[in-house]
Amino acid sequence: MSEPLEFAVTLYPEPVLRKTAEVVTAFDDELEETVEAMYRLMFESQGVGLAAPQVSIRRRILVMNEEGDKEKPELNLTLINPKIVERTGDKTLMEEGCLSFPGIFAEIARPEDCVVEAVDLKGQPLRLEMTGFLSRVLQHEYDHLEGVLLVDRMSPADRLRNKVALQEMIEDYKERQAQI
Ligand code: CO
Repeated sequence: MSEPLEFAVTLYPEPVLRKTAEVVTAFDDELEETVEAMYRLMFESQGVGLAAPQVSIRRRILVMNEEGDKEKPELNLTLINPKIVERTGDKTLMEEGCLSFPGIFAEIARPEDCVVEAVDLKGQPLRLEMTGFLSRVLQHEYDHLEGVLLVDRMSPADRLRNKVALQEMIEDYKERQAQI
């Protein structure tokens, strides 16, 4: 048996985070292994959601567990090729973080509810109506597939408040590049 896949979180401002992810067409073992490795990393990182671009894979794959609790696999939600077909309800503000922006938080305005269509790991279609926190997580993760990041949705005030931390992330990235 081959070694299990192991990913690390891709950090801002890696360019892959800005790319639009591509539609998944092969529902094979590799997809399954990718998803499993994404769950492992999400739980290790104490996240509630992870999108494939955050492990430098440009494909439309999301994993979520709204409690971030690996002891509750019944909450695991794997969405392949998701599409938000409806966003409704008032826009509400909620503080969001992102594994690609460790230590950075911002109040982001998003519609309360959404409807998502996707397929599961086997390619079976799903249609889910989401509200509250789950809808919030989904909308955040979905943004990753479009190359949209927390920093894009921040208010000017939050961007200013996080300016130094964001600048440090850019500096760290440049240093990592210089070492390659
Ligand atoms: Co994120």
